[in-house]
Amino acid sequence: MVHVEIRHVDQAAIAVLRIDNPPVNSVGSQVRVALGEQLDKALADAQVNAVVLTGSGRFFSGGADIREFNTPKTQVRPLLRELIARIEGAGKPVVAAINGTALGGGLELTLGCHGRVASETAKLGLPEVKLGVLPGAGGTQRLPRIIGIAAALDMIVGGEPIAAHKALANGLVDEVAADPIDAACRLGLALSRGERESRTVDPAPLRNAASESVFEAARRDAQRRYRGCIAPLECIGCIEQTVHTSLEAGLAYEADRFKFLVEGDQSKAQRHVFFAERQATKLPSAAEPSQIARVGVVGAGTMGGGIAMSLANGGYWVVLLEQTEAALQRGWNTIQGNYAASSKRGRFTEQEVKDRLSRIQCSLEYGDLADVDLVIEAAFEDMQVKKEIFTRLDAVCKPTAILASNTSRLDINEIAAVTSRPAQVLGMHFFSPANVMRLLEVVKGAKTSDSVIATVFRLAVRLNKIPVLVGVCDGFVGNRMVSHYTREAYFLLEEGCTPAQVDGALRRFGMAMGPLQMQDMAGLDISWAARKRQAPTRPAHLRYSKVADRICEMGRFGQKTGSGFYRYEAGSREPIPDPEIDALIAQCSAEAGITRREISDEEIIARTIYALVNEGARIVQDGIAQRASDIDVVYVAGYGFPMFRGGPMFYADTVGLPEVLATIRRFHEQHGEYWEPAPLLVELAESGRRFSDS
Ligand code: 3HC
Repeated sequence: MVHVEIRHVDQAAIAVLRIDNPPVNSVGSQVRVALGEQLDKALADAQVNAVVLTGSGRFFSGGADIREFNTPKTQVRPLLRELIARIEGAGKPVVAAINGTALGGGLELTLGCHGRVASETAKLGLPEVKLGVLPGAGGTQRLPRIIGIAAALDMIVGGEPIAAHKALANGLVDEVAADPIDAACRLGLALSRGERESRTVDPAPLRNAASESVFEAARRDAQRRYRGCIAPLECIGCIEQTVHTSLEAGLAYEADRFKFLVEGDQSKAQRHVFFAERQATKLPSAAEPSQIARVGVVGAGTMGGGIAMSLANGGYWVVLLEQTEAALQRGWNTIQGNYAASSKRGRFTEQEVKDRLSRIQCSLEYGDLADVDLVIEAAFEDMQVKKEIFTRLDAVCKPTAILASNTSRLDINEIAAVTSRPAQVLGMHFFSPANVMRLLEVVKGAKTSDSVIATVFRLAVRLNKIPVLVGVCDGFVGNRMVSHYTREAYFLLEEGCTPAQVDGALRRFGMAMGPLQMQDMAGLDISWAARKRQAPTRPAHLRYSKVADRICEMGRFGQKTGSGFYRYEAGSREPIPDPEIDALIAQCSAEAGITRREISDEEIIARTIYALVNEGARIVQDGIAQRASDIDVVYVAGYGFPMFRGGPMFYADTVGLPEVLATIRRFHEQHGEYWEPAPLLVELAESGRRFSDS
């Protein structure tokens, strides 16, 4: 757990303590105990002049062991903050040799040290806010005293790590060195000889370091960036303490706020998402992935263009295919425009943009796809169109090539059946904009091979996406569930709500946008086409809302036509309530014989979110998703579900499945068979289990 080596520098002895706890050197209870013992030993050894603290492999330390949170292990002494106080008050210098990534409690350990040296590739950060907590081992009190309030607000509230050169510039580290252990040993020696000054913090309040308005601005910004999250505000509150109180009082305040957050639902939800995202990338089979270097993209529209950009960003060579010169030129112009905008925002340098563009080859010839390793079809969402494309791809692509469709709901098995290689056919459902959104539904057809799935998962991770394995059904996981969610939103309109009321309630719940605003953004014609397709098989006795169809019949397809459920000013995406739509909805209610009534936010949330939960339970039971937590990943990463609620399935666990089931049963009685409780939900609720146990 902690290795000790004595190094001799200039006739002095330096004890190098190396944390070794793969995979990320997290500082859990056992590491704390081992580190405490070795530290005490080194400090007590009269032969040792200084101590250097470092980590094994790529990491200094990934921080406290998150898996131990909310368990008795967090109480095992020494606590991290006790260990840091021991380092800070040590009778001989302790220097951190930050050999790689130092995050959270890992970085906090270094803040108690008398000096800090980083490797050139080190990354330093306090990302606790992303887990719904705050740096609870002194980070909020020591970092502002080292780098100033403004820079500390950036690092702690933003949660993004900084590179070593930036840490040198803002004074977080004293040196950046190719061999940080050697440099730290020398710094330790210089400190022991009084040739350098200790960098431990001054415990006095920072007093006039920042005005009230700095914190007010930070709060306003945090409320906008992290709508509904409490951790960022608590982080700011702790940092504010540094201005008014001593280190000791500030540490006590921070410890109290950390405890409050770590025991709360938001942090539990955010930690659930952290582990769920990592779990989602784990496949049931150990099949070997194959190599992908060149990828074809069929269709240069919004999706195809975004996919091509994503691939080019990931270092792949891309052949972008269109049917006509005009369509190709339009797609290429959009790609160039998007890159130019990213470069303007400072995301890419001009050279990076050039490199990326040079990796995309535009083409009008299917023959240019002869040597690609993978093709992603992103053409019009129509089965006949897809079948024609896959027939041609099967004829021109090399036998080993993988053929993927970006369909958002069509049957992959039917598409695969037109090819001679169904084992190499699958779905890759990207989310728009494909170069930004991290979710990728990887759809495994009945015959898709495990190795093809493993190959696409590896590619996805290289594209910085979160791949989630899903099975074939109408809409896969995300869109299958969303149909139930929007259905309830439409019913609520007919029963008495306005679009702004439904969307407002769900935004206050934390959704990035409400369901009707989302429909307007996606384009109402898309779901209209799907409803028309489903019409022949829709049981006549089931309730059906005509609201959305009637809006489409008016030629209102959402943002792209300037009106849908809302109207939009030219060039704006701001939804404006439209009395014409209110009148139309009232007319639909009357035609359906529904007396409009007052509807509470609470009912809007239960009707829409529990519709997701009930269908999610069926999806897990049907084996369309591997696990309930995958559904949470899909919803948080792809549908704007609030991270601080952990996704729909985790939210249901938080509410309590018996209560969710009781409400669904009540809806079943009131609203009919759409609300038949999913058997898995009944089974879990009645046996006192949760989706997280399923
Ligand atoms: N505790 C426990 N497990 C951790 C962990 C941590 N702090 N950090 C990562 N892991 C686990 C992951 O769950 C994963 O486990 P798995 O293999 O079983 O799925 C494994 O380590 C590897 O993680 P990644 O797949 O994420 O590896 P990467 O190399 O891609 O990324 C990382 C490494 C940048 C360290 C990333 O894992 C990360 O961001 N970790 C969280 C860092 C963090 O938030 N630290 C703060 C913790 S809270 C804290 O310190 C409180 C303190 O203030 C008191």
